[in-house]
Amino acid sequence: MKLLIMGPPGAGKGTQAEVLVKELQITHVSTGDMFRAAIKEGTDMGKKAKEYMDKGELVPDSVVVGMVKDRISQPDCAKGFLLDGFPRTVAQAEALDETFKELGIKADGVINIDVPRERLMDRLTGRRICRSCGASYHVIFNKPEEEGKCKCGGELYQRSDDNEVAVGNRLDIYEAQTQPLIDYYAKQGILKNINGDQDIKNVLADVLASVR
Ligand code: AP5
Ligand code: ZN
Repeated sequence: MKLLIMGPPGAGKGTQAEVLVKELQITHVSTGDMFRAAIKEGTDMGKKAKEYMDKGELVPDSVVVGMVKDRISQPDCAKGFLLDGFPRTVAQAEALDETFKELGIKADGVINIDVPRERLMDRLTGRRICRSCGASYHVIFNKPEEEGKCKCGGELYQRSDDNEVAVGNRLDIYEAQTQPLIDYYAKQGILKNINGDQDIKNVLADVLASVR
C-alpha cells in the first residue's frame, strides 16, 4: 500500500505514522526525519537544511524532490510506504506524480489529519522526542511513563523548531503553501479526511478504518 499522510505541523502525523506503518507493514518515509538525520550526521545537505528548518521555513524544492525520489526507489519501499511531510507545495505534488509515473506506481490514499490552528501551538511547544528511536511524546497529552525518558530507555529532547516563533512561521507557511494540496488530492479522488482533534487512539481508529 502506498499512502501519503498530511496535515498541519503538530496535527499528529508522526504519532500516527509510528503505529500505522507497523500495522500495515510498510516503510515510514518522513522528510523531516531524513533532514534531522542528515543534520545529526553533519552532511552538507544537513547543514543547508538546518538553516531553513530552525526558522520554520521550507527547505527548497530542488533539495527535497530528489531526496524523496531516491528514497522511494529503495527496495524497502517496494512493499509499500507511508510518505510523511511530503509533498508540501504544489510543485512537490506535481514532481511526485511524475516520479510515481516513472516508477509505475500510484498512491492508494492521502490521509489528511485536520486539527484547528488554535490547538497546534500547545501541541508543538509541549512536544518531546526520543533521541534514540524518534518516538514523539507530549508533556501533557502523551506523557512518558518516566519523566524525560522514552519507553525504549532513550533520552527525550525538544526540537529546535518547536519554539513559538518557528511554530508561528511553520503554521503560516502550511496555510499558504501546503493547504492547497487538500484540494489537489480531493480532485484526484484519493483524499481521506480525518478529525485529528480527538484522542490519539480515536484518531488511529479512524485512520485505520479509512485505509482498510
Ligand atoms: P516535519 O518534521 O515534517 O515537521 P512538521 O510538518 O512541522 O510536523 P511535525 O513533526 O511538527 O508534526 P506532526 O504532525 O508529526 O506531529 P506529532 O505527531 O509529532 O518538518 C520539519 C521541517 O523540515 C519543516 O519545517 C521544513 O523546514 C523541513 N521539511 C520537511 N519536509 C519538507 C518538505 N517536503 N519540503 C520542504 N521542507 C521540508 O505531534 C505533535 C505533538 O502533539 C506531540 O507532542 C504529540 O504527542 C501530540 N499529539 C499528537 N496527536 C495528538 C492528539 N490526537 N491529541 C493530543 N496531542 C497529540
Ligand atoms: Zn525511544
